[in-house]
Amino acid sequence: MISDITAARDAALTDIAGASSPDEVAAMTTRYAGKKGELAGLKKQLGSLDSIDAKKAAGAAINEAMGAVDSALDERRALVAADAMRQQVQTERIDLTEYVGTATRGHAHLVTQAWERLEDVFVGLGFCVAEGPEVETDWHNFEALNMGEGHPARGEFDTLFVDHVPPGGKPGTTVLRTHTSPVQIRTMLAEDPPIYVIAPGRVFRRDTPDATHMPVFHQIEGLVVDRGISMADLAGTIDAFTKAFFGRGWNSRLRPSYFPFTEPSAEFDIQRPDGSWIELGGCGMVHPNVLTAGGLDPEEWSGFAFGFGIDRMAIMRHGVADIREMFSDDLRFSEQF
Ligand code: FA5
Repeated sequence: MISDITAARDAALTDIAGASSPDEVAAMTTRYAGKKGELAGLKKQLGSLDSIDAKKAAGAAINEAMGAVDSALDERRALVAADAMRQQVQTERIDLTEYVGTATRGHAHLVTQAWERLEDVFVGLGFCVAEGPEVETDWHNFEALNMGEGHPARGEFDTLFVDHVPPGGKPGTTVLRTHTSPVQIRTMLAEDPPIYVIAPGRVFRRDTPDATHMPVFHQIEGLVVDRGISMADLAGTIDAFTKAFFGRGWNSRLRPSYFPFTEPSAEFDIQRPDGSWIELGGCGMVHPNVLTAGGLDPEEWSGFAFGFGIDRMAIMRHGVADIREMFSDDLRFSEQF
């Protein structure tokens, strides 16, 4: 009997060692460790042995054989499961990496580069960055900036109106902002002075595209409100900015002008190292009516504001002849910068 047990055990172990899938291991578990298995059959025959000693010896041999078969099955089960998992991972593998060794690396658009550099320079001068919505109310875009209904200056902004009537409001009072100046009002209403902010952003006008105009372009607004601010602070800030942004050889000047929201108002020009002057934008002392619309007492607070076109500044800086080039999506143009 012992030799039958040993033979059955060895045959089972050899078979199990060759199992190569979870299904095969499952079938062998039934065959060798199940109630109808060969070893279970031998166990049932123990009763037919003559002596107690023979029964004991055969019983011990069967227990040892069943233990060995169970361990071999466990070991094989773990092995084929790991193998199956490895195979599944291999077949379902997705390579998320991309080899970019020979690809051309992109870069930010010329306007984005100018925008980011402007932010850096003004943050370096102590300003914070403010934001406002591109779809504005007539009140923020005009009225609060001292351009009431029927003000002739409204006509200078070829305004795009939005077909949206606010609850309780009038038709034709929602606009695509024509300049970044409404951010002045939003900032004054949201924050207490002292205020030192810049607000870069996209603006819209019904301008026909030409070498210096786009219907969608970008401006940067500056607003300072504090006690005792004067025109000298404005001139000094513009000059510090000019030198920090364009370089030491550049100068700036203010020329008298008119804006309804500043009084006095000026255009500011910058001088290239070759001596020629170019106009950059508008500026002035914040009009008392604008301070009042922003919830501030003009007797207590004073300030200056400025605004200029980022796109125009970018083409000047890089010597681009036509503003439309920047929006043509022509890689031969973009790759030069
Ligand atoms: C204004 O928009 C005033 N809000 C600026 C200002 C702010 C004055 C604060 C005083 C105090 P203006 O309409 O001139 O001003 O536009 C300012 C700049 O935007 C211009 O100097 C020019 O650089 C740029 N710009 C105007 N229209 C266009 C256009 N269609 N395409 C590209 N750039 C433009």
